[in-house]
Amino acid sequence: MKKHNDIEKILVSEEEIRSAVSTLAKKITEDYESSPRQLLLIGILKGSVIFLADLMREIGIPAEIEFMKVSSYGDSTTPGHLNITLDLPQLDLSGYDVLVVEDIIDSGRTLSFLCNYLHQRGAASVRTVTMLDKPSRREVAFVPDYTGKVIPNHFAVGYGLDYAQKYRDLPYIGVLKEDVYKTGS
Ligand code: PRP
Repeated sequence: MKKHNDIEKILVSEEEIRSAVSTLAKKITEDYESSPRQLLLIGILKGSVIFLADLMREIGIPAEIEFMKVSSYGDSTTPGHLNITLDLPQLDLSGYDVLVVEDIIDSGRTLSFLCNYLHQRGAASVRTVTMLDKPSRREVAFVPDYTGKVIPNHFAVGYGLDYAQKYRDLPYIGVLKEDVYKTGS
């Protein structure tokens, strides 16, 4: 099928994704089921949407959802300058256990910034869950609370992850063929 043509190899298959989501959801359920507070999943747009949709259906306790979006500003010589372009509604977070949901952690800057922000907003607790982690790319120290798969430094797309806004709709996580991002075809 055409949308699979640019994929070099599959990194995490649909079956492996299902198994990772199920394992994460079980652990999250166990960790939060005795909390007196409401669980709030915050999906970071756009990459997290597919993972969030799968994860929330597997978690065995009631969860609310919200979305945020973060963009970097300035040029590449000023990494770390992040801007919230979609914020949470006015919400008293003191009654919530916040779990930030990401598709991937790379430099660690997005989640590091967001966790600080959510603590400042008064969240009762803040934890993070990511489908993928690329620890070899870290620029700031950050360790997620829950991780689906640790991957090497491949150009991963699919299951929400994009290249130039494409490939998010692939049901697996694959490695993009080098000629696609080298030539931009
Ligand atoms: C990706 C990913 C994380 C962030 C991780 O988002 O979804 O939010 O980058 O990178 P970091 O650890 O280096 O901060 P991206 O900005 O590509 O936006 P998208 O989710 O809309 O694709």
